[in-house]
Amino acid sequence: MSESLKNDIIQLKNEKNAIILAHNYQAGEIQEIADFIGDSLKLCIKASEIEDKDLVVFCGVDFMAETAYILNPSKKILIPDTGAECPMAHMLSAEDVKIAKEKYPDASVVLYVNTLAEAKAEADILCTSANAAKVVESLDTDQVLFGPDSNLANFVRKQTDKEIIAIPDGGHCYVHKMFHMGDIAFKKEEYPNAEIIAHPECNIEVQNVADAVLSTGGMLSQVKDSNSKEFLIGTEIGLVTRINREIPNKIAIPLLDDAICKTMKLHTLEKVKDSLINEKYQVSVDSQIAKKSLNAIERMINL
Ligand code: 13P
Ligand code: SF4
Repeated sequence: MSESLKNDIIQLKNEKNAIILAHNYQAGEIQEIADFIGDSLKLCIKASEIEDKDLVVFCGVDFMAETAYILNPSKKILIPDTGAECPMAHMLSAEDVKIAKEKYPDASVVLYVNTLAEAKAEADILCTSANAAKVVESLDTDQVLFGPDSNLANFVRKQTDKEIIAIPDGGHCYVHKMFHMGDIAFKKEEYPNAEIIAHPECNIEVQNVADAVLSTGGMLSQVKDSNSKEFLIGTEIGLVTRINREIPNKIAIPLLDDAICKTMKLHTLEKVKDSLINEKYQVSVDSQIAKKSLNAIERMINL
């Protein structure tokens, strides 16, 4: 069943001159039919470079598909399931950013790419988990408003002397909040030689005991390059699937088996096929907002 679905999707992809982009958290079967899999930063860059395709099917969450549209508005960007929202991105509104800017008029505004387009339009520059500290260090102000992930803000604080003001209070990813010290102790007993790699959206105490704190793309490179054989992965389990598919001589073990981003997993092969056949669901962003947020996105990409 799934093999014939995959074949249908590949055929449709060719007929429609489409490309399928997928985030590292997608299920294995989506990873298998994707033309490009990446972390948020790599997906942004890829979306900005697509020239020769008519359709882009984006298997990720809302802010990622919106960013692809803003970077390449002449392309038809499709998302197979419109319920694929990132709850963290919805924790910070444009109004919240405006209020913070009034309170801290001298601060620069760095927003995580996990924000809605309206909020991005209020930012000076965006960042992802792969480049957050570098982005902050590139600014010429001592104060930085940073949101919406308070754990990523903590991660950046450890790498800069600038004052990082997190907006909103307590913004977080519910998936990465699930990791606790007990999970690490439990898994470490079973895999004493495993390298622990955590995502910067994890709580600070988890970051502090990890051997490395990296974006999902950084985790993949670390597993490839490290001399270790086993890795305890502190992020959504889709990345564990990717590592074990692509790097068969290493073993990736989830730090927590049920670290699942429910909305990422809404995309299925059936929905991707439907998306290609009926060219749905089309993603768009208000042109004024798109224009304003493009500056902040491009500033990050150019860095
Ligand atoms: P990455 O940019 O590391 O892929 O992270 C995106 C994300 O949504 C993490 O939860
Ligand atoms: Fe958003 Fe967390 Fe899902 Fe990433 S894992 S898309 S931050 S809810």
